Amino acid sequence: MKAPILKGEKIILKPLAISQAENFLRWIKDDEVSRFLIIDGRGLTLNKEKEYIKNSLTDKSKLNWAIFTDSGEHIGSTGLHDINRKNLKAVWGIFIGDKNYWNQGLGTDVLKTVSKHCFKKLKLNRVELGVFPHNPRGKRCYEKCGFKVEGVKKQAIWKNGRFIDEIIMGITKDDYKKLINK
Ligand SMILES: CC(C)(COP(=O)(O)OP(=O)(O)OC[C@H]1O[C@@H](n2cnc3c(N)ncnc32)[C@H](O)[C@@H]1OP(=O)(O)O)[C@@H](O)C(=O)NCCC(=O)NCCS
Repeated sequence: MKAPILKGEKIILKPLAISQAENFLRWIKDDEVSRFLIIDGRGLTLNKEKEYIKNSLTDKSKLNWAIFTDSGEHIGSTGLHDINRKNLKAVWGIFIGDKNYWNQGLGTDVLKTVSKHCFKKLKLNRVELGVFPHNPRGKRCYEKCGFKVEGVKKQAIWKNGRFIDEIIMGITKDDYKKLINK
């Protein structure tokens, strides 16, 4: 589906467009970024990426955004995958590809903005994500937004020549309501 424009405190999310494929590809092929991602950028080409973006615009199970700073800089991507209308749940993912913008609260702002959209607009009941044990920054960011560790899938992902555990974190609508009414 084409994602709506969403505004956070420090970021603006705009629907991921084919014109952003080049940045997307460059970041996903950057080892310092991709070491935290489940997606493997090695086989990805610009044409494949453009095709993915084009197809995702009509795929009802996906919503993809490009992340912009409030001064208009394109710094990364975020998206909901596997949006499931029967079980009212989705899987969320993010990367800030421009490393100059790490650790400034932008990831937290993105997740708060997307969570609000998930629970208030899409009326989902649950959002989940996977994070690697070697990504404490990501884990901390998600905890700040109310996501809780639900378990660990042992050796779930083959990456850089080894199997890596995947920590599963999630938040339910009930927990989200408690969080925002605090
Ligand atoms: C993960 C990511 C989205 C987080 O966004 P961000 O804007 O950098 O994170 P934030 O500044 O909002 O929050 C990070 C928190 O982690 C903390 N943190 C940073 N490094 C840390 C570390 N090594 N150990 C523990 N906490 C750490 C920060 O201090 C901050 O917490 P605080 O606000 O309580 O001080 C972003 O860094 C990113 O895209 N990284 C590369 C790709 C990636 O990891 N994607 C996610 C895959 S699951």
